Amino acid sequence: MTRVWRLDDGQQTLVLAAKADLLPQCMYWGRSLPRGEDLTALAAAHGLDVTGGMLDENPDLSLCPEASHSFPGQPGMILRDALGRGVLPRFRFEAEDSDGNNLRLRYRDADLGLGLAFRFQTDAQTHVITCDTALTSDQPVHLDWLAAPVLPGPQLSDEVMDVSGRWCGEFQVNRTPWSAGIRLRESRTGRSGHEHFPGLLIPARGTTNTSGETYAFHYGWSGGHRMLAEELQDGRRQIQFGHAVQTETAPGTAFHTAPLYITYSAAGLNGCAVAFQRHVRDRIVQMPKPDRPRPVHYNCWEAVYFDHKLPVLQEIAERAAKLGAERFVLDDGWFGQRDDDRRSLADWTVDPRKYPDGLMPLIDHVQALGMTFGIWFEPEMINPDSETFRAHPEWVLGPEGQILGRQQMVLNMALPEVQGYLYDRIAAILSAYPIDYIKWDHNRLLPAPDAAQTRGSYALLDRLRADFPLVEIESCASGGGRIDFGILQRTQRVWLSDSNDALERLRIQHDAALFLPGLVTGSHVGPRHCHTSGRVLDISIRAWVAAQRYMGFEMDPRELTEHEADVLTKVTTWWKANRDWMRRADILRLDSADPAVIAEQQIAEDGARFVVFAGKAATSAQILPRPLRLTGLDPAARYAVQLLNRDTAPGLSRGSPALKMDPLHLSGASLMQMGVNLPWHFPETMWVLEGTRLETAI
Ligand code: DGJ
Repeated sequence: MTRVWRLDDGQQTLVLAAKADLLPQCMYWGRSLPRGEDLTALAAAHGLDVTGGMLDENPDLSLCPEASHSFPGQPGMILRDALGRGVLPRFRFEAEDSDGNNLRLRYRDADLGLGLAFRFQTDAQTHVITCDTALTSDQPVHLDWLAAPVLPGPQLSDEVMDVSGRWCGEFQVNRTPWSAGIRLRESRTGRSGHEHFPGLLIPARGTTNTSGETYAFHYGWSGGHRMLAEELQDGRRQIQFGHAVQTETAPGTAFHTAPLYITYSAAGLNGCAVAFQRHVRDRIVQMPKPDRPRPVHYNCWEAVYFDHKLPVLQEIAERAAKLGAERFVLDDGWFGQRDDDRRSLADWTVDPRKYPDGLMPLIDHVQALGMTFGIWFEPEMINPDSETFRAHPEWVLGPEGQILGRQQMVLNMALPEVQGYLYDRIAAILSAYPIDYIKWDHNRLLPAPDAAQTRGSYALLDRLRADFPLVEIESCASGGGRIDFGILQRTQRVWLSDSNDALERLRIQHDAALFLPGLVTGSHVGPRHCHTSGRVLDISIRAWVAAQRYMGFEMDPRELTEHEADVLTKVTTWWKANRDWMRRADILRLDSADPAVIAEQQIAEDGARFVVFAGKAATSAQILPRPLRLTGLDPAARYAVQLLNRDTAPGLSRGSPALKMDPLHLSGASLMQMGVNLPWHFPETMWVLEGTRLETAI
């Protein structure tokens, strides 16, 4: 007897099947199958031959591959009993529940007193399937590893794409060819991490941004994950995601993985990127005031660092407001005796030396300028040089004598007294002042990964959000060190990178768009002379790169020349005029024929308008720009396309390409198949094209 289950969302079908009472395997995942497909026949057709050098039967690549079943690859679970002895469960079917969008399958090993449950949830709007695995035990057990539902890797695929990074260099996409053995990524730093963003894309052979099949995965957990893409000797491939190994540090009777978000698309990498972008926007992030336009930020970090002086901040606020800022964020340096990064973390009271009358004089000033006020915290951290550490050295996570990071240690967030203390301190500031935004930082790695720490941080965030529901929160961890769908369930913006270098940011945000929508992706106009790269960049590229995402400023506005202030004001005005449709736009990465050009198209939900950003990050190998093909348009519709900033064409652009003169009126088919010819431009510049769908079709 074969048990079969089928999940559909209009774009993809996922079929599970199990021999009798054994754990189910994913038999099919891909383009939607016909409604009447015979799933038992499909499961039979999925069966593989056996030849020499193999067991007499192929052990199932089930949703939790079992070592007890002679599975030849990595098992889906590694478990020890209370005495530390390995346990090898053999699960058997117990029950199933399903309604339209949800499927829940329960299995049990009665001899060992263990239960295993898999959940799947489909979403016909976003086309992201959410799934997880839960384990229960009658007796306390040690869990070393538990994978979220294990899925097969596609066979017609030559490589996997995963994401690494570093401080000021987040979201670097690696392409690794499939080969025998394991591609293993594990974030053991206790954060989702710069180094190992928890995402994976598997393109089928020949896939580009705009065409071909892609399978995509994201593990929604902020405490560090493990991902493996394994090719077995028999050629089968498996994908596993779970918490980093041994992050459950205590024996327990109930464990569950974080949600694994998966999606398949036949529309290139963009198909999966759009599914994730929409899912984050519509299902994950909860905006306190969903209809409020996203306010332009001013953040004072790179302007003043720890040197807070009220009159200076007031002058900066005035200039920022004049440029178009709508929210002023007071960064690190306002509390304790925080004159540098060596002291005072965890002493969350306003520094009376810098703010003798509290924060109100600054907030009043900011509000009189029409801006709201946000503030920086780094709640999970403590400096040894702090009042809090002197009173509570026992609150620190990890051993004595541990290596410090940025002169700081981590608070043990699993302790109720630590959570209570932080809640009280943060709530006191939020209650005393009209604050609508927290930048929530996390600048040190954990001494060792620990799931209880992440649960503690989530609990604190959840409690604060429940009591201060109108306060938005930004997730920052030395830039983009804590970005994942778990933290995004509790926050509304991510600080993508500490790099305000527009060229680097252009690349980082292009790759981050594989997973993140624009409305949560913070991007600031930095100083002319970039503090983290040393590059000097023109205001135009700095402003347009920030305008691609959730815009803000972070330079000292007093440094701006009249020309720079003028350009920035104009770009900010453009962003404000477009932010409402852009917040719900899909970001489509374009297949740029010129590797020097990083280009994307943001298209409105109704397809009626779009904007193309074509950033020339370097000098091209050839003289003239190569045509840039657009995407996602209706081939039969007509569009008007105009080069918004054509007046910035330099003297060396001596010809008259059509776009330099007038708007183009062309079909979607021409724009997508022939592409557009942009005027010549210097490197480190951005062309911005606006498109509108015309009423009259071709
Ligand atoms: C690291 C963050 O990424 C920066 O933006 C800034 O907030 C500093 N911390 C403050 O210490």
